[in-house]
Amino acid sequence: MNAKASERRTGSTARGRLVSLTLVAHDRDQDTRRFEIRRKTDGVLLGAVEISRIARGNFQSAYLGYSIISAYRRRGYMTEALQLILRHAFRTLRLHRIEANIEPGNEASLALVRNAGFTREGFSRRYLKIGGRWRDHERWAILAEDWRPSKRSGSRTVSDRPGRGPAGA
Ligand SMILES: CC(C)(COP(=O)(O)OP(=O)(O)OC[C@H]1O[C@@H](n2cnc3c(N)ncnc32)[C@H](O)[C@@H]1OP(=O)(O)O)[C@@H](O)C(=O)NCCC(=O)NCCS
Repeated sequence: MNAKASERRTGSTARGRLVSLTLVAHDRDQDTRRFEIRRKTDGVLLGAVEISRIARGNFQSAYLGYSIISAYRRRGYMTEALQLILRHAFRTLRLHRIEANIEPGNEASLALVRNAGFTREGFSRRYLKIGGRWRDHERWAILAEDWRPSKRSGSRTVSDRPGRGPAGA
């Protein structure tokens, strides 16, 4: 499938140099938004990124989750997708804070958020149960005022309209 056909099929909503993001799911309470990540050149599905637990009122915050299919890792795809989702969070949703919780040994994820300007705020003991075991996590966050949009982070803002593509990775 070529890139244009893919964009028509999925209703592409944000484009960077390497990847496109498409909103594929809103939950009923509108506090989670899931996007699939596709390669721009050929429309191949690369992974997914999600903003969840969007809290309004005096918080204006949300949590971030992401994954790239193993065969496509270490090519800069998530670095660009992260910039696109931060643009959506800060410019479209007008959020103030995005938080990511990462296991201490996850070097790729730690490098990703550090490079994007997140700050390490703390260490949460036995934060999340994965594979039946409670795992420690580092807490990282970025504020709207910390974020420096990269010129390569996409020329279009993600819209609020879900696309028609499959749910992704
Ligand atoms: C974390 C993840 C999304 C990164 O995606 P990616 O497309 O491979 O990331 P990028 O290629 O944009 O690389 C981001 C940075 O991580 C570094 N990196 C990537 N893989 C790495 C690895 N295995 N070890 C050390 N550093 C790594 C890259 O060098 C880059 O840093 P740099 O720009 O300073 O060189 C991917 O590894 C993944 O899906 N992991 C499994 C799911 C996961 O851990 N999700 C996050 C849970 S908190």
